[in-house]
Amino acid sequence: MKAELEAIQAEALEALKAVKTPDALESLRITYFGRRGKLTDVMKGMGTLSKAERPAIGKLANEVRTTLTQAFEKATEALHHQQQAQQLEAESVDITLPGRKPAYGKAHPVMQTLERIEAIFSQMGFQVATGPEVEMEYYNFDALNTPADHPARDLHDTFYLEARGWKQHPQEEGEDARSERLLRTHTSPVQIRVMENQKPPVRIIVPGKAYRVDYDVSHTPMFHQVEGLLVDTHATFSELKGVLASFVRQMFGEQTQMRFRPHFFPFTEPSAEIDISCTVCQGKGCRSCGHTGWIEILGAGSVDPEVFHAVNYNPAEVTGFAFGMGVERIANLQFRIPDIRTFYENDLRFLRQF
Ligand code: DAH
Repeated sequence: MKAELEAIQAEALEALKAVKTPDALESLRITYFGRRGKLTDVMKGMGTLSKAERPAIGKLANEVRTTLTQAFEKATEALHHQQQAQQLEAESVDITLPGRKPAYGKAHPVMQTLERIEAIFSQMGFQVATGPEVEMEYYNFDALNTPADHPARDLHDTFYLEARGWKQHPQEEGEDARSERLLRTHTSPVQIRVMENQKPPVRIIVPGKAYRVDYDVSHTPMFHQVEGLLVDTHATFSELKGVLASFVRQMFGEQTQMRFRPHFFPFTEPSAEIDISCTVCQGKGCRSCGHTGWIEILGAGSVDPEVFHAVNYNPAEVTGFAFGMGVERIANLQFRIPDIRTFYENDLRFLRQF
């Protein structure tokens, strides 16, 4: 039995050296100390020894147990340290490596242009007003002096909502067709909404989305406009010119020329279209300006008295001017983009350039 004990001790100590994982250590522990373990077996066998043998063997058995218990404890601790070291290494960070830059977002180029337009007019004292994109026919056309049989209405290829069966608010008994819903074709209806709710003076700009059935290099079905409206006791056409000249110079540079061409809009009289000297060729004539040297950027005019009637303003007491511009068109000139549609293709390679 003495030899057996010594063999067990030697064998166990040897086996411990080879242990690399907590699982292996545990199974080794069971091999020796478990209920059916080798050491346990020997201990159980002590009962069969003679009285003379028992003290010496018992003492030896206890020594072996103590030795092995300590050896197992040491191995457990060593494994634990080893694992901690491995984990530390796995989690270590090389602080000398360059960091990862967070990707930051920024405003869409059309929004950048819109914000610039807003900033220029705000500084001239215009306040920002907004209105609904789903609009009533009345505000989009009628109140702007464009009744149903007016030819100007055909100029706008309108997205009607109800006529297409998308009606959401059933027309009430007696409600007339003027309350038919559409996607506003311009931001001008906000002029009416503001004047209905506010006494003169009015000095607003209206940035926002507008919609038309249109799709080519210079048109997308959704686009942005900035409307302007100034109403006061003595608002004049020359003030309109001054405001727009100031805008054009700030937006496109001091050297930019501007010209007014007579035009027609139902809601202004007289009306004009405003051209600026081509930003690409400086007015010499190139492909961008169709070799005319001029590019149209704005519609404007003196508010038509009919519009004042619609909002219960007295045209004998107030005058006003209004203007409207397409934001994509201006962004186009600012960034020299040949095709407006690229703004809305969401190609990041394109958008990252701004
Ligand atoms: N609403 C016009 C359009 O979409 C632009 C416009 C022209 C607005 C003249 C105005 C204006 O306020 O006076 O084409």
